[in-house]
Amino acid sequence: MRVLIITGAGVSAESGIPTFRGKDGYWRNLDPIKLATPEAFARDPELVWQWYRERRRRISNAQPNAAHEAIANLAHCADEFLLVTQNVDDLHERSGLTKAEMVQIHGDIFVSKCSRCDFEQEQEQNQNGVPRCAKCDALMRPGVVWFGEPLPLRETQRVEKYLQRDPCGVVIVAGTTATFGYIIDWALRASRRGGELIEVNPEETPLSRFATRLVREPAALALPRIVDEFISSR
Ligand code: OAD
Repeated sequence: MRVLIITGAGVSAESGIPTFRGKDGYWRNLDPIKLATPEAFARDPELVWQWYRERRRRISNAQPNAAHEAIANLAHCADEFLLVTQNVDDLHERSGLTKAEMVQIHGDIFVSKCSRCDFEQEQEQNQNGVPRCAKCDALMRPGVVWFGEPLPLRETQRVEKYLQRDPCGVVIVAGTTATFGYIIDWALRASRRGGELIEVNPEETPLSRFATRLVREPAALALPRIVDEFISSR
């Protein structure tokens, strides 16, 4: 069985990481949708860093939940497997997926990158204020994709390669509002030859009408059951 999984913030919600668009996502009355932008960083880099530092702390203290574990189990028994996650946390990795099994299409919150040159580094401990680039002295920024920015080419190429090779028998899209066209496009292309397209989300999304199966439940409840079904039907 060839499998593609696509995840979003809803999969980490039950680990206590706030989603972007839910009311819990607000931070000091600020809308994350507005904070996660190049404009917000240009206006107030210190504020944007404070928000990301708080998210890093929260993620470091969080644990993978049953949804992450179920996805890692599926990876171990699928013939071919790829996870595409919009999440910048490390909970999929900590549940046992290797970097080769996943694409973090919106980057990695524990990486900092230069806002001008190509310098990158892993999280600095106890960092304060706005860090500067060791190479060119420009402001460092979190290593994530912000609204309006292009996706990292190397990562989109990995997804394209996986999709081009063969269609998938099973595609699961969990915990995402699927607001970005590329998420819907990848899910549809992967399931193009009659593969199952399962959506796991308590709410309707733009992807819902294309799904062959809708599971309107929290991911940590639904995914272990769905994965068990697949494993026992093999
Ligand atoms: P959102 O915050 O937009 O959406 C979270 C989705 O998860 C919603 O559709 C919820 O209904 C669903 N949800 C909430 N709790 C859930 C649970 N326990 N189980 C399953 N589903 C649940 O997050 P994303 O769709 O991931 O990008 O957002 C996509 C991107 O927009 C993010 O990666 C980020 C954001 O701006 C960038 O920063 C570029």
